[in-house]
Amino acid sequence: MLKRLWALPINLPFTQYNRGLRESVRARDLVKELVQEKRVLLEKNGASPHQDLIAFLLSMRDEDGKQVLTEKEIMQNVVLGLLGGYETSAITITFIIRQLANEPTVCAAVLQEQQEIAKSKASGESLTWEDLNKMKYTWRVVMEVMRIFPPVFGAFRTTLTDIEFDGYLIPKGWQIFWAAPMTHMDSSIFPEPSKFNPNRFEKQASVPPHCLVPFGGGPRMCPGNELARIETLITIHHLVTQYECVQIITLVGIQCRILLKDCQSKFGQGNSHRFHISLSQEPVPASF
Ligand code: HEM
Repeated sequence: MLKRLWALPINLPFTQYNRGLRESVRARDLVKELVQEKRVLLEKNGASPHQDLIAFLLSMRDEDGKQVLTEKEIMQNVVLGLLGGYETSAITITFIIRQLANEPTVCAAVLQEQQEIAKSKASGESLTWEDLNKMKYTWRVVMEVMRIFPPVFGAFRTTLTDIEFDGYLIPKGWQIFWAAPMTHMDSSIFPEPSKFNPNRFEKQASVPPHCLVPFGGGPRMCPGNELARIETLITIHHLVTQYECVQIITLVGIQCRILLKDCQSKFGQGNSHRFHISLSQEPVPASF
C-alpha cells in the first residue's frame, strides 16, 4: 500500500493506484476491527485509556463527557500514524547503519560519544532525556543521513492564492509537490552536497530556514519528528555499544546486506549472536 502512495492517480482495474485503493480499504477494515475491539475492552474496563493510541483516542472526552473524535476520525488518525511513523523511521535507521558501516571514522566518533553516555549509567539503567541531549554528534550524523537519503522524498501542497515563483505563475488551487533533494543537494546551501559530512551541522544556524526539510515544514510538518529523534538515537546507542559491523555486501543497485555481531562491551561479552540488516528492493538470494 505504501509503495502505491506515489502511483499516478489513474483509477483503472490494472493500475498500481487502483491496487493501492483496494489495499487501503483492506487496511481500514482491519483498523476498524481493532477500534471496535478496543472500544468493547474499554467499556468492560479490560484496557487502560493510556494503553495505546486507539485506547487514548477513544477515551478523549470534552467538558460534557462526550467523545471528542468520531470513529472515522480515530481510524484516519491510526492509519495516518501507521503510514507516517513506521517505514519512515525504519528507513532512516537502516540508512544510518549502512552509513556507519561505510564510514569507519564517523562510526568511531559516534561510538565514542555513546560509550561516554553508557559509562555514566548503571547496568540496565535506561537512557534519559538528558542523555539524548548529549548525543549531539550522533544527531548530526542522523541529519546528514536524512539530508542525503530523505526517507520522505517530498509532499503535496495546494496553493491558497496565486503564487509567482521563479517567473512562473502558479494559480490558486493548484497542487504542487515540494521535493527535499531540491534544497538538500543544492551546493549553494550545502557545499559538496554528495559528500557525507555530519560536521556541516556544527553551526546549524548557518542553514537557511526550510532548506533542511526531512520532516517537511510549516503547519503540516511531521508531528512525529520528536518521537523519530528519540527512537533513532536510542536505537543507535544500543547498536553501536553492543554490535560491530563485520561485513557489508553490496549486491545489485541498492541491495545491501550488513552483518553485525555482538562486540565486547559492558553489555555483552562478545557472544556469537549475529544478525543481518537487509536493504533491498528484490528478495536477497537464498545463498546469503
Ligand atoms: C525519521 C522519521 C520520519 C520522517 C523522516 C518523517 C517525515 C515526514 C514528512 C516529510 C512529512 C510531511 C510533512 C509536510 O508535508 O510538510 C510527515 C508527515 C507526517 N508524519 Fe512523519 N516522519 C517521520 C516519523 C514519523 C513518526 C514516528 C510519526 C508518528 C508516529 C509520524 C507521523 C506523521 C504524520 C501523522 C504526518 C502527517 C502530518 C499532516 O499531514 O499534518 N512521522 N512526516
